[in-house]
Amino acid sequence: MLAEFPLDPGTLYLNHGTVGVTPCAVMRARAAILDEIERQPSRYLLRELRSPGAPAVPEPSRLRAAAERVGRFLGVAGDGLVFVDNASSGVNAVLRSLALGPGDEILLPDLAYGGVARAAAHLARERGALIASVAMPFPMRDPAEAVRAIEAAITPRTRLALLDHITSQTALVLPLVEMAAACRARGVPVLVDGAHAPGAIELDIAALGVDWYAANLHKWAFAPRSCGVLWAAPERRQGLHPAVLSWGVTGGDWLQEFDWTGTRDPSPWLAAPAALDFMHDRLGVAAMREHNHRLAWDGAAALARRWERDWITPESMVGCMVTVPLPRRLGPADEATAQRLRDVLLAEHAIEAPVIARADALWVRLSLQVYNDESDLERLAHAVERLR
Ligand SMILES: Cc1ncc(COP(=O)(O)O)c(C=O)c1O
Repeated sequence: MLAEFPLDPGTLYLNHGTVGVTPCAVMRARAAILDEIERQPSRYLLRELRSPGAPAVPEPSRLRAAAERVGRFLGVAGDGLVFVDNASSGVNAVLRSLALGPGDEILLPDLAYGGVARAAAHLARERGALIASVAMPFPMRDPAEAVRAIEAAITPRTRLALLDHITSQTALVLPLVEMAAACRARGVPVLVDGAHAPGAIELDIAALGVDWYAANLHKWAFAPRSCGVLWAAPERRQGLHPAVLSWGVTGGDWLQEFDWTGTRDPSPWLAAPAALDFMHDRLGVAAMREHNHRLAWDGAAALARRWERDWITPESMVGCMVTVPLPRRLGPADEATAQRLRDVLLAEHAIEAPVIARADALWVRLSLQVYNDESDLERLAHAVERLR
């Protein structure tokens, strides 16, 4: 499958999760969209892209048609879904639309993505609100530990729980349905950071029992970069504004507001259906997931054994990414050592994979995609065993 991707074959790429990799077929589909835009840019962008357009413009608009298709993939109706640049934009839109006041609390697990955590902290500070950081167990032996940690952190001042679906550095698939139910039972609305979920795991957003879901299609769903989505439950759409305000802000129609946030390149959004076609027709969604998950799960267990480390993560908490403890002899579990190992892996072994320090250990996060196979894990193991 490597030939289907524009990746440099000289580098072993075990980092699909960070910024995604766009398949060649999807890049071609996007290029065709850009060609079409440039033939008559104002007609395309001002009349056809979004609705309502000028009179006699066919409905649905191009953007709404793409949202319908993506919505079907994610288990929601297209009119509940808007495109945003990325998961960060989706999370920002929700956070900035909330009426938070002094003393209010945003519940945030300490496994949250750093950029999201900083944005939440900044917005909370501006409003006199607080971040209630939840110490999550890691590594985790049982998903119920995550539910208990969230439950125990809810207070009468909790106004929002911002929960990851799949954590970033630690690559854990969290028990979102159960965590969300615990929040709902206490009247706490749930915003999900699902940056890694579409494509990686089966996703039926409407069945999760959450209030907002922000995600990326440019990681595991093969869309070109800058293809994020935000879904909001029907009762959460009124008063929800994009991170960038424009013409639609006074109109009271959230779709119009999100569908135009100023002149920009819509091709990553419009190429999302081609990315879904690649996944369905070229790979087969089930076969893709099985391949990626098997590599991740079997690979992690084998590497941990080889490196004489405990491996306690349950299979249900592993998708296509996995974070494996490195051999103890590699040095102190601190950020400087993690950074050095990351750099040496790339510079001396041509392997791209993040290394982190957490819970008194060094870990390597492996993203497994259809262009990876067992020989990649063998090459990684060999390189790690030569690290000094
Ligand atoms: C859990 C999580 N949230 C948010 C993001 C940010 O994604 P983006 O840069 O596409 O907004 C990432 C990126 O890796 C992530 O892992």
